[in-house]
Amino acid sequence: MEADLPRPSLHPEVVARLHSRLKELGTISEEPGKLTRRIFSSAMDSVHQRFHEWADAAGLHFSVDALQNMKIRWPSADSALSTTTHKTREVLVIGSHLDTVRNAGRFDGALGVVTALACVEQLQAWGRTLPFDLEVVGFSDEEGLRFQTAYLGSSHYAGLFRPEWLTLRDESGQTLAHLLENRGINPSLVCTRQKAPTGVLGYLEVHIEQGPQLEALGISVGVVSAIAAQTRARLRFTGKSGHAGTTPMTLRRDALCAAAEAILEIEELARSMDGLRATVGQIRVEPGASNVIPEWVVLSLDIRHEDGHRLEEAVKEFKDRIEKQAEARGIQLDWEILQQGPSVPMDPGLQSHLQRAAESRQGRTPILASGAGHDAAVMARVCPVGMLFVRCRDGLSHHPDEWASPPDIEMGVAVVADAILAVANAYPKEPHS
Ligand code: GLV
Ligand code: MN
Ligand code: MN
Repeated sequence: MEADLPRPSLHPEVVARLHSRLKELGTISEEPGKLTRRIFSSAMDSVHQRFHEWADAAGLHFSVDALQNMKIRWPSADSALSTTTHKTREVLVIGSHLDTVRNAGRFDGALGVVTALACVEQLQAWGRTLPFDLEVVGFSDEEGLRFQTAYLGSSHYAGLFRPEWLTLRDESGQTLAHLLENRGINPSLVCTRQKAPTGVLGYLEVHIEQGPQLEALGISVGVVSAIAAQTRARLRFTGKSGHAGTTPMTLRRDALCAAAEAILEIEELARSMDGLRATVGQIRVEPGASNVIPEWVVLSLDIRHEDGHRLEEAVKEFKDRIEKQAEARGIQLDWEILQQGPSVPMDPGLQSHLQRAAESRQGRTPILASGAGHDAAVMARVCPVGMLFVRCRDGLSHHPDEWASPPDIEMGVAVVADAILAVANAYPKEPHS
């Protein structure tokens, strides 16, 4: 790392604010007693309200876009002299998502947004300025809890939002278009007015590891090499309902039995293929009465592998197997692929800035692949991306007991603040290394 980069410790007020914000965000929820925050919820509005106050206090410009992505801008040092608006200046984007899974932990997503704001405040506290704007983003929908389609927020931010997503329905049957209208936003403008962002130098994201490797190594932070490929699908099994007490077992076309067989089949397949992860996380049974044979069942399928080709093979193999099983039971099986994402490598330039910054702060720094999806996978389609993982207890995530320690989080802020300065030192030649 460059000899002239500073290694001062973090300012105590920046650190105190960071931890109290994370704690507070963990209480802003749609559901009492648990943390659940979906896109277009009033809980998301409340979170934005708090960030707005924090941004104002730091003298930063706050805004929210049509898809409820939050943006906080720190203008470059020369912006006062510049005749250009911030829309045309170059910008380094840093953040993560503010939505959660149901009954979530408080670090997944929020950590990346809160640490991004802490990086700005820390750079200000060090008296540093940057030759480009810094934009803190809080994406509105990464988990896909509301519509079962991940990355809606970052897709819109990146100018990649697809018109067909407007017809997605949430659990209560409301379409995304309808939710936009409720907020006074013309849905068609969400597609026609979106623009691929210009002048984006790169995107950095801090995230808890959501796995056990850093803990096993006893290291606070690690640098991400790539994000695994993933497919999300909806499977519908259609049989025939009938009387539970009178229909002989041999005459049944029970959709739930076919679905149960498929769930075990995917588990078996994932156990037998190295690196494959497959999950059925949702199931809906109709008509859903104890004395009626299930007529239809809808399952969610989430399946991932670091290697996109192996993932494709696995999906095909699974489909072949369960189609045969369903046919043997007289059950109709319909597949709908909701989302397919390739494996996404990180930018070598940003990766090496993070690596050098981390080595200089903590010594040995591992390079890790991410089994979890992240907004960085979408941002990689429009700019270079880099990610830093923070150790989390027991590798646990998507669970209320999710936990990252204050010193590890502070290490994340220090490393990313150093890496931002390294990008600035190399500007304007990098980060496209
Ligand atoms: C996001 O948490 C995902 O990987 O599903
Ligand atoms: Mn996340
Ligand atoms: Mn998550």
